[in-house]
Amino acid sequence: MQEEALCRILESIVGKNNCITNPEEVKSYIEDWRGNHVGSTPIVLFPKSTEAISEIIKFCSVNDIAVIPQGGNTGLCGANIPNSTKERLEIVINSSKMNKVLEFDIHNQTLIVQSGCVLSSIHNKAEENGLLFPLSLGAEGTCQIGGNISTNAGGVNVLKYGMSRELVMGIEVVLPDGRIFSDLKGLRKDNTGYDLKQLFIGAEGTLGFITAVCLKLFSLPTGYTTALVAVENPYKSIDLLKDGKNTFGENLNAFELMNKTSIETVERQMTNHRIPLDSSYSWQILIEMGNLNTQNIDDDRMTNFLGNQLEGGNILDAVIANSGQERMDFWNIRHAIPTSKKLTGPGVNNDVSVPISKIPELIDQSTDKLHQIFGNSPLFIYGHVGDGNLHITKNKPENMDIEIFESKIDNITRIINKTAVELGGSYSGEHGIGLVLKEDFMYFSDPIKIQLMETIKQSIDPKNIMNPNKLID
Ligand code: FAD
Ligand code: LAC
Ligand code: ZN
Repeated sequence: MQEEALCRILESIVGKNNCITNPEEVKSYIEDWRGNHVGSTPIVLFPKSTEAISEIIKFCSVNDIAVIPQGGNTGLCGANIPNSTKERLEIVINSSKMNKVLEFDIHNQTLIVQSGCVLSSIHNKAEENGLLFPLSLGAEGTCQIGGNISTNAGGVNVLKYGMSRELVMGIEVVLPDGRIFSDLKGLRKDNTGYDLKQLFIGAEGTLGFITAVCLKLFSLPTGYTTALVAVENPYKSIDLLKDGKNTFGENLNAFELMNKTSIETVERQMTNHRIPLDSSYSWQILIEMGNLNTQNIDDDRMTNFLGNQLEGGNILDAVIANSGQERMDFWNIRHAIPTSKKLTGPGVNNDVSVPISKIPELIDQSTDKLHQIFGNSPLFIYGHVGDGNLHITKNKPENMDIEIFESKIDNITRIINKTAVELGGSYSGEHGIGLVLKEDFMYFSDPIKIQLMETIKQSIDPKNIMNPNKLID
């Protein structure tokens, strides 16, 4: 089908104001957040209803056109970018205009929303009603719940509340042939066979387009006690985590590690960020508990805990946030790391996880290997130690040609991923597979896992309409 005729038909489904065909405007929907992938598409659609998405996908299925679901375009593995070729067109369906709250149930503690709701707007809606939706990550002002669920996003509160998968109670999906599968009941008990919603969570848009979700809400803590702590090395960090869990139990909701390069880079790139502890400490940790008692009682518990840690020589220094604003200041440092790191130039990125006990070995071994290959160029190590998940980025050495650096990226990624896997870990802790880790997926996965995934893909999407060439062929 001619591109122009195709665009006219799709435009008639969503309305002229809800689609973009001008190449200049299309640009921001075909490049990923890191700027590593630039694809192409003749059209980006912004439907407002499940029925419109069903009609679009039915049309695409009949005409063998591929569909790329897109939310806030903050994904980090290239899974949200179309790659039209001469052989096959790929169109983008962006969920930004699917942004309605559909139902709030205060007794069931659930919220049903369309998939294009921005994550921070869901936080606000829950909080207005005295409840909490705990998924939290640096991109929360931009990413959308459909994207979060399709990547099974983790973030900074997994320690207490789990990954996205654990926060979803129901789902509505348009299947690759246009049929609508809707299961938004929000039941805590429903033992009626396969839990099909799990197939679509973390599927990176390869099995269907998520149009709505029923989310699990939690009691809103009365406040937070948040501290920044300096430790000498990663071994001390996992000791601090163990002691913190024993002291604060379920109330510990975040435990985030940042190395010196990460903190110094935020300090340099984001001059409006105040760094409360000396940025030259080798390692800092952001530790937070949600309050059940009054703020004063929990702040005192944290003060005593950190005092004992200081006396016992496990930590070097600490500061507790003494206002909501200071708490935000601490979090702003942590959340600014990916953006300030991006400003320092190209790097090799890894998102690996290991059992928490292996975190120090992962750091030691990765540091040694990256140092051997790239020398002293900046090395960022930060992430969710409470979940055994670290982000490791080694920058291009200043004197190395970009072409040479780029030619080494896949190999270096593999070396660090292998290090994690050999320590009993995973080569993708939370960002997913997408395009970036497809080869690693084939390399590291059990052949039976690959076969089962291929069987599922083939049976739900035999024409390979949904997000082809991502995650699995
Ligand atoms: P997109 O990037 O648009 O899409 C991501 C994937 O989901 C693609 O495969 C796409 O096809 C699919 N998809 C999107 N919408 C739908 C839908 N409605 N139906 C079916 N498939 C769909 N991730 C973490 O896990 N933890 C973090 O702490 C974290 N921090 C981040 C910090 C920054 C600064 C940035 C830029 C990213 C971070 N991420 C993190 C990456 C994370 O995956 C995304 O931020 C987020 O989950 C993706 O949401 P999105 O709406 O931007 O989705
Ligand atoms: C973070 C992203 C990169 O933790 O996952 O900041
Ligand atoms: Zn992360």
